[in-house]
Amino acid sequence: MKVSLKELKENFNPKLKPIIWNDDKNTLTLLDQSALPFETTYVELKDPEGISSAIKLMKVRGAPAIGITAAYGMVTALTSDTPVTLEEAIEKLTKAKKVLDQARPTAVNLTWATSNMLNNAKKYVEQGEAKSVNELILLLKRDAKKIFDDELEAELQMGIYGLEKINDGDTILTQCNAGGLATGTGLGTALAPVKVAHMLGIKVSVIAPETRPWLQGSRLTVYELMTDGIPVTLIADTAVGLVMYKGMVNSVMVGADRILSDGHVFNKIGTFKEAVIAHELGIPFYALAPISTFDLKSRVEDVKIEERDPDEVRTIRGIPIAPEGVKVYNPVFDVTPPKYVTAIITEKGIIYPPFDKNVRKIVEK
Ligand code: MRU
Repeated sequence: MKVSLKELKENFNPKLKPIIWNDDKNTLTLLDQSALPFETTYVELKDPEGISSAIKLMKVRGAPAIGITAAYGMVTALTSDTPVTLEEAIEKLTKAKKVLDQARPTAVNLTWATSNMLNNAKKYVEQGEAKSVNELILLLKRDAKKIFDDELEAELQMGIYGLEKINDGDTILTQCNAGGLATGTGLGTALAPVKVAHMLGIKVSVIAPETRPWLQGSRLTVYELMTDGIPVTLIADTAVGLVMYKGMVNSVMVGADRILSDGHVFNKIGTFKEAVIAHELGIPFYALAPISTFDLKSRVEDVKIEERDPDEVRTIRGIPIAPEGVKVYNPVFDVTPPKYVTAIITEKGIIYPPFDKNVRKIVEK
């Protein structure tokens, strides 16, 4: 089924709004994803320190959502304590970038967004486009909004490309939450084709692994899809192999936190296992991500895989499930080598192997 970007844009009306910029107060309201689905609470933040801490605590999470949040975090560097001169403004932005960048290490969208904002600010000052701090603030607000708007447009486009990989009646296995909560737009990356298919009346359902330890699958993906009325089945992470072996999965669609020029895909822990099993069983495995998630400079060994609090594994939401003090290893992302990836779906098109040649062709297009 064919659908245009314009038609989709006109008809996309998200029920979830995870990131809201309050222009009258210069604050950022985040739907607290650490409390979902049990509590729907919001936090209102006014400065880079508060925003960095919200990213660290995963009140907002998911690569594109972290990028958008950090972009607004840069704006608050100038609105929370307004500098007098443009020189001071650049100093404040440079400091805010450091504060925001150290919040989480793996998703490249974070540093992509803060670099973008800082470089733009420098350019506006150097080229005389911003003649006062107030003018600079207005330009940066416009740029942060553009990062959000471009992200939504990219997701709609990925939804259209991804639709080519979905047949009526398909069941998609995912991992983590790569939906609208993870991108801030209400649509998502991995879930974009599913949502677009559903909007067009194509029958599609999702299998969501719980995604221990933080439970993005059971708490967020399930909640998001149920909110949209899309059929979803929750499984334990350990059931991934069996559902694929039993023929219950037509394709795997996951998001990404960083994709390298040779096609290595960094994503939520558990993704690699899905990719290997899919490869073994001949099930297509797709990674979906906007161009802002690509890192063409780093090699696999340069990318830091975040390790989080051992108590996330020793407990489930505060309830102990292991002997106290047990040694724990808690990496929260993994890396899938290109040989297991069938294709990478971006807003600029679908990238097929050989990735070491084709990633650059599409990303730099
Ligand atoms: O630790 P999280 O919840 O931030 O991890 C999120 C993921 O791994 C997502 O799959 C990825 O960021 C893509 S989101 C569209």
